[in-house]
Amino acid sequence: MQYMPSGEIPILEIRGLKAYYLVRGQLVKSVNDICLKVHKGETVGLFGESGSGKSSVALAILGIFETIARSHSSSSADKESKDLWALREDARSKGLTSEDIGQDLPGLEGEIVFDRRNLLTMDKEERRKIIGSDITYIPQGTSQSLNPTVGLWTQALDALRAQDYSVPEKEVRRRVLETLDLVDLEIDDLIDNPGSLSVGESQRMLTAMALIPNPSLVIADEPTTAVDSTVQRWILDALRIAKEEMGLSFLVISNNRAVVAETADKIAVMTGGHIVEYGDTSRVLNEPGHPFSEAFLMAFPTMEMIRRMKEKGQRLRGITGPPPNPVDLPSGCVFQTRCEHTSEICKEEVPEYREVESGYWVRCHRFEELRQT
Ligand SMILES: Nc1ncnc2c1ncn2[C@@H]1O[C@H](COP(=O)(O)OP(=O)(O)OP(=O)(O)O)[C@@H](O)[C@H]1O
Ligand SMILES: [Mg+2]
Repeated sequence: MQYMPSGEIPILEIRGLKAYYLVRGQLVKSVNDICLKVHKGETVGLFGESGSGKSSVALAILGIFETIARSHSSSSADKESKDLWALREDARSKGLTSEDIGQDLPGLEGEIVFDRRNLLTMDKEERRKIIGSDITYIPQGTSQSLNPTVGLWTQALDALRAQDYSVPEKEVRRRVLETLDLVDLEIDDLIDNPGSLSVGESQRMLTAMALIPNPSLVIADEPTTAVDSTVQRWILDALRIAKEEMGLSFLVISNNRAVVAETADKIAVMTGGHIVEYGDTSRVLNEPGHPFSEAFLMAFPTMEMIRRMKEKGQRLRGITGPPPNPVDLPSGCVFQTRCEHTSEICKEEVPEYREVESGYWVRCHRFEELRQT
């Protein structure tokens, strides 16, 4: 694997991350050896089909992937699952990886370096101070009745004091009001109407709560899925303003082209737990270099893409067939069973994730060849 030196230290760097669930003795390979950097003030879009592992990446960063993965292996778990977790614990205590012992293992492997510290190896107490204050999360608001107004003050106070213990309550109040204003919510409305937030208001409230601690990195997982287009507009505007005014870094997860097109500076395209392409947003969206990205984007073709396809004498074609099964991934390239350009090497060897042009990465054996056509 190649890691290019970057002039600027990234706020988040994921290296060789694997995230495997274990369900009834079977490994669900949701994230397979991904590398990704997010620099200060940058928004990276994690874009890909359903089940490609996007949320698993978020859960890994937030430190909850393993708790969820282990919930399958509770008291009711079969012996095989328990043995595999025990093997994982044993390997980890000896500092060995799955590769060292020649056996795939459940849980996380690799590195998630935030602000120069590896979140996967730091102690829980240290991580607890970072998650919720330096790294925050905008979940998808689904509850109509969510009104965390009361909790808002305590949560804001906790999050801000995790960064600076001496922050006065007045400052917390100022920060809360300022952030609610940013997402176009008024505290009076929230207090006057307890328990009556609409889905849109809930989502804006969740957005505000993630911004209040003045974090360095915000992870937004499908921030606009449950909301209508007006609310989607508000949320995207709030994210943009937060980025511009607060200089935050974002990881925006979505399978919606418009959301990543509007928010992201860089896009990483995922399928089958792999990042198959990464680069500047306009490059990835308008001139996708990986056959998966190209086919996936056909679900949302732009005039620019249609023009390019016509120039090349190609037809618009979407993806044929279901996503790869993470319990039984195909050999070689993760897209080979659905790709119209598959050749022998694609079936046999996992392509390397290569920087084919400065700042532009692709995981395809045939990238150079296909580019000529
Ligand atoms: N709690 C879980 N236990 C077992 N497998 C899971 C669990 N959550 C997700 N998976 C599986 O892991 C794979 C990756 O799922 P993930 O939720 O990360 O994908 P995603 O890209 O976020 O999809 P979507 O766009 O639908 O949200 C999928 O095959 C999914 O079925
Ligand atoms: Mg998801």
